[in-house]
Amino acid sequence: MIHLNYKIKGSGNPIILLHGFPFDHHIWETVGDLLSLYVKVITPDLRGHGSSPVPEPPYSMRGMAEDVVGLMDSLSIERAVLVGHSMGGYVCMEIARSFPERLLGLGLVATNSTADSFEKRQSRLDSVEEIKKNGAQSLVEKMAAQLTEESKLQPVLRDMMMKTPVAGIIGAQLAMAERPDSTNALKNVLVPALVIGGERDQFVSTLATEKMTENLRHGRLVKIPNAGHMPMMDNPLMVANALLDLADQVHR
Ligand code: MLT
Repeated sequence: MIHLNYKIKGSGNPIILLHGFPFDHHIWETVGDLLSLYVKVITPDLRGHGSSPVPEPPYSMRGMAEDVVGLMDSLSIERAVLVGHSMGGYVCMEIARSFPERLLGLGLVATNSTADSFEKRQSRLDSVEEIKKNGAQSLVEKMAAQLTEESKLQPVLRDMMMKTPVAGIIGAQLAMAERPDSTNALKNVLVPALVIGGERDQFVSTLATEKMTENLRHGRLVKIPNAGHMPMMDNPLMVANALLDLADQVHR
């Protein structure tokens, strides 16, 4: 377990927002500001990202989940609404599998519960080799163009990704390549759950988000029109409202 960097804002019931790959807590800034009017918002940087420590690769989803649970322990938070974007969603699903008693509610944003296909896993391993040789520039350029259709956001995301340490990018790619299928973990989630999908996401299909919602006993799907893989930045108001509904449902 390592000690994660985090931001905390607002007071009341805790909601923890985990960023995706290879970003940091800043992706949640606007949504976090909106939510913090009503609840306590905690936005960590996952290991190897943002200002958190950068252990040597490889990482694992279990290790990344333990970091988040360790942060909850250090803040004396027994249970929280946990929300994860993409890779952050994989971490949330690992927490649902390994530490279900820490969940009050689950939010899965632009993420997928299946493991990587053989081809996807291979492409991650190839990208690790490419990054070792030439750095992360080509991965970042490729991703930036696919993340959002909002041209003002692309340079912001590109800069954020370029700040992510190379060892963090490699560690996280290897953790994602090895992650297990989480379909059963979702079926065992007993708390209220919310799936948020961007209707124009080029990384996660609408079908995948619908399947995830079906597998959750108390799952609800909110589709964000005109949003891609970064719905919290494409349409922060709609994402914040959906997450507030989840928080309300949990604490009702
Ligand atoms: C993310 O945004 O976290 C990534 O697209 C996740 C992935 O590569 O599977």
